[in-house]
Amino acid sequence: MKANYNRVASFYDHLSRIVFGKAIIEAQKYLVDFIGAGSAILVVGGGTGWILEEISEKHPSGLKIVYVDKSEKMIDLSKKRNVGTNRVVFLNADIDHVMLHDKFDIVFTPFILDNFSTKTLAPVFDKIHRLLLPGSLWLFADFQLTKKGEWWQRPLLNAMYLFFNIFCNVETARLPDSDSVFRKYGYTPVATYAFFGEFISSTVYRNNSSFQPA
Ligand SMILES: C[S@@+](CC[C@H](N)C(=O)[O-])C[C@H]1O[C@@H](n2cnc3c(N)ncnc32)[C@H](O)[C@@H]1O
Repeated sequence: MKANYNRVASFYDHLSRIVFGKAIIEAQKYLVDFIGAGSAILVVGGGTGWILEEISEKHPSGLKIVYVDKSEKMIDLSKKRNVGTNRVVFLNADIDHVMLHDKFDIVFTPFILDNFSTKTLAPVFDKIHRLLLPGSLWLFADFQLTKKGEWWQRPLLNAMYLFFNIFCNVETARLPDSDSVFRKYGYTPVATYAFFGEFISSTVYRNNSSFQPA
């Protein structure tokens, strides 16, 4: 996939704060609460790495984290974060191409699955799923369109896609149907919370089995 966030890395967090206030942060902090002590965590598309500080504030030690981001600049910023004594491996790579042999208790995908179309999400989802242990948690934060707010959510979403299509070469201009992919793989939502007038949703999915679709 073509997306490249290098051009926006230096101001990404400021921009997100201007548009969404603290909602992007709160949505991810909500998910951090589901991380158990001693977990092996895969973070995909973590951006500038502030999430590592949130995670490490809750668990200053004992975690094993693999942090994958395709943007070299995002990885450089992330490496400067305080991670306590947790073990963090930074991989500047496309999740689609990365080769991992470890299995994880937790995968965290904050505002990255919306970079894929429903079609291009399928192999990426499958790849991540195969890296997870049975009973693991998938911590998912992303945008959604709801009936109540669609009149303002859709134009805002379109404007965001236009911006990221131009500056980051994001390949799609609409949200993938991630919910049906989670269902197809047998995941169960165990907790969910909406932020920013329901435009942002954080969901904790449990991986019920080692189910693999044909
Ligand atoms: C919209 S940003 C979200 C950043 C961060 N999670 C946040 O909420 O502030 C998407 C992030 O995913 C990364 N990314 C996009 N496509 C990727 C891919 N195929 N593999 C790994 N990282 C990717 C980008 O470099 C960027 O850092």
